[in-house]
Amino acid sequence: MCGIVGYIGKKNCVPIIIEGLKRLEYRGYDSAGIAVINEAKSTVIKNKGKVSLLEKSTENVNLNSPLGLGHTRWATHGIPNEINSHPHCNHDQSIMLIHNGIIENYQVLKTMLIKSGFKFISDTDSEVIVHLIDSFVHKGYGLFKSVRFALNEVEGTYGIAVISTKEPDKIIVAKKGSPLVIGIGENENYLASDVNALIAHTKHVVYLEDGEIAEVYADRFTAKTIEDEDIQKEIIELTMNLDEIDRGGYPTFMLKEIMEQPDSVTNSMRGRLIFEEGTAKLGGLEAVLNKLIHSKRFIISACGTSWHAGLVGEYMFEQFLRIPTEVEYASEFRYRNPIINEDDTIFFISQSGETADTLAAMKEAKRKGALVLGICNVVGSSIARESDGGVYIHAGPEIGVASTKAFTGQLTVLALITMLLARKKDMSLADGKALYNEFIQIPEKINRILALNEQIEKIAEEFKDSNNFLYLGRGYNFPVALEGALKLKEISYIHAEGYPAAEMKHGPIALVDENMPVVFIAPKDSTYDKIVSNIQEIKARKGRIIAIASEHDEEIDKLVDFTIKIPDTVRILMPMLTVVPLQLLAYHIAMKKGLNVDQPRNLAKSVTVE
Ligand code: AGP
Ligand code: GLU
Repeated sequence: MCGIVGYIGKKNCVPIIIEGLKRLEYRGYDSAGIAVINEAKSTVIKNKGKVSLLEKSTENVNLNSPLGLGHTRWATHGIPNEINSHPHCNHDQSIMLIHNGIIENYQVLKTMLIKSGFKFISDTDSEVIVHLIDSFVHKGYGLFKSVRFALNEVEGTYGIAVISTKEPDKIIVAKKGSPLVIGIGENENYLASDVNALIAHTKHVVYLEDGEIAEVYADRFTAKTIEDEDIQKEIIELTMNLDEIDRGGYPTFMLKEIMEQPDSVTNSMRGRLIFEEGTAKLGGLEAVLNKLIHSKRFIISACGTSWHAGLVGEYMFEQFLRIPTEVEYASEFRYRNPIINEDDTIFFISQSGETADTLAAMKEAKRKGALVLGICNVVGSSIARESDGGVYIHAGPEIGVASTKAFTGQLTVLALITMLLARKKDMSLADGKALYNEFIQIPEKINRILALNEQIEKIAEEFKDSNNFLYLGRGYNFPVALEGALKLKEISYIHAEGYPAAEMKHGPIALVDENMPVVFIAPKDSTYDKIVSNIQEIKARKGRIIAIASEHDEEIDKLVDFTIKIPDTVRILMPMLTVVPLQLLAYHIAMKKGLNVDQPRNLAKSVTVE
C-alpha cells in the first residue's frame, strides 16, 4: 500500500524521489506528494492522482534540493484530495511528515491539540503526528526527541519520516507495523517503505524493526528504540537486480509475471529437491523440524490469493501427512480469540510479508506459544523476520497487483514442505522419487500451457462482455476455482464466484442461463466422472462452458463450448498447472475491456492497514 521515499545527500533529491515513488506505484495509491528543504526553505507539492502529475508540477518549480521526502497515499482517513495528501506540515511548514499506517487514537490527540491552539487543515489521522511533534519542539526539544516523545503518545501503526527546516541535516524515521528501510549510499542515504524504491541506488540496506527510530544524516545514521535505548543495526546486502523489477519487454507486469512462471517455479524449487532421497531440503525449517513434524495440528493463515494457496496446502497436508489442518482468513483468526496450543504449527503465507492482518495474526499466534512459520516472497519482510522459521518463495519481485507467480511459488513451497515431512513420515522412497520426477517437469508443462496464450485470448474475446462468471472445481482444484474467480474480479471488475463443483447444485445453479459462462476445472483425475455430471447439469440449463481439461481428453470437447487442454500431473501438483490458463483468461478479458491490469481500481499490492 502507500509508499515512502526519502533522500539526504548532495544530489538534487527531486528526480530520485519521483523515480522512487514510480517504483512504488504498483502498491496502489490515490494521491502523491513531495516535500523538500533547500537552504532552510521548505516547499511542499502534492496532488490527488498519479505520480506523473506530481512530476509535472515539480518541473515547473525550481526545487533543486539535497533533502526531501515523497509519499504515495492510500487513503484511510479522509477522502483522497490534495489537502489530505502527504506530506503534512506544522503551522509554519518548518516540520514536514509522511506517514504510512493508521493512528488509532488520533481523535483524542486531535481534540487535545486543538485545545492547545494547533490548527488542523486535513481530515487525516496522520496530521496529528506532525502537530504533536511541533508541540514538543515548542517546549524546546530537538527534532529527534520531539518525534520520539510524540510516538510515545500515538497508538496504531506507522512508518514515518520527518524533516525540519531548523535541522536540515537529517531525516528522522520510525516504524511500528509499517515497513521502513534505510538505503546506505556514499555520503548520501535513502529511505523507503520498500526496497524496490532503493535498488537503483544502493544494495546496502538497514531494516528498521517495530518500535525503532533512527536519525539519518547524509554520511551516517544512528538508531534507538522509542524507549531511548541505543541499538546497533546490521547493514544487509540485497541480491536482487534492477532489471528484475522492470517490465522486460512485456506490455504489463502482470503478463510478464504470468509468463515468467516456468522460471519462477524453477527458482522456488532450485536446490531444494533431492532425487536420491526422494525428498526436499528446506534450510529455513531445519531448526524447527522436530517440533514441526510432531505438531498435533496445522493452521494456515493468510489473505486473498495467499489464502487460496493455503487451501491447497490443507489438501496436501491432510492427504500426505494426516495432520489435521485448518485454513483461516488472517483477519478473522486474530479477532476471535483462536484456540492455539503449544503443539500447533501455524503457517503464515504472504507474498509481500507485510499484510497487516497476517502480521497481526502471526503476532497473536506467537504470543500463544505455537510454532510460527512464514512462507513469504519478499526477503527481509516483516512476516519473514518475525517468524520462528520458514521458507522463501523466491519467485522474484511481483509488481502486478494481481498475484500470479507468487501463487504458483506458494504452491511449490507447500508441496516441498509436504514432500519433506511425508518422507519423514510414511511416504516411501519410491513414491518420493516419483513425486520428484513429476515436480521437475512442472516448469516445462507450464511452458506448454503458456503456449496456449493466443487460444485463450480468443476465448476472452467471446466472454469479455459477460457480467457474471462461475468457476467450478473439485478437490485440489476447488481453491483454484476460487483463485480464478478472484483474478477475474480483481482486474476485469466482472462479478465472479468460485464454488466446489458439486456444491453448485445447492444454490448457484439458480443463476445459470444462456448468459452465464461457467469455467470448469476438469482434469482427468479421480473426480473426473463426477465433474462431467456437473458439466451436464450446467449444459441442461444452457450455461456456456469453458473447460480446463487434460490434453488427451477428447470426450470433453463434445460436452462443452470451449476447451483449454493442459498437461497432466499428480493431483498434489495439478493446481500449479490448472491456475495458469485462468490467469491468462482473466488477463485477456481485462485487457480487452481496456483496463489497467497492473493497478486495478481500489486495490493495493500489499494491504498494510487492517
Ligand atoms: C491477489 O491477487 C490480491 N491482490 C490479494 O488478494 C493478495 O493476495 C492479498 O492481499 C494477500 O497479500 P500477501 O500475499 O502479500 O499477504
Ligand atoms: N492513514 C493515513 C491517511 O489516510 C496514511 C494512509 C497511508 O498509509 O497511505 O492519510
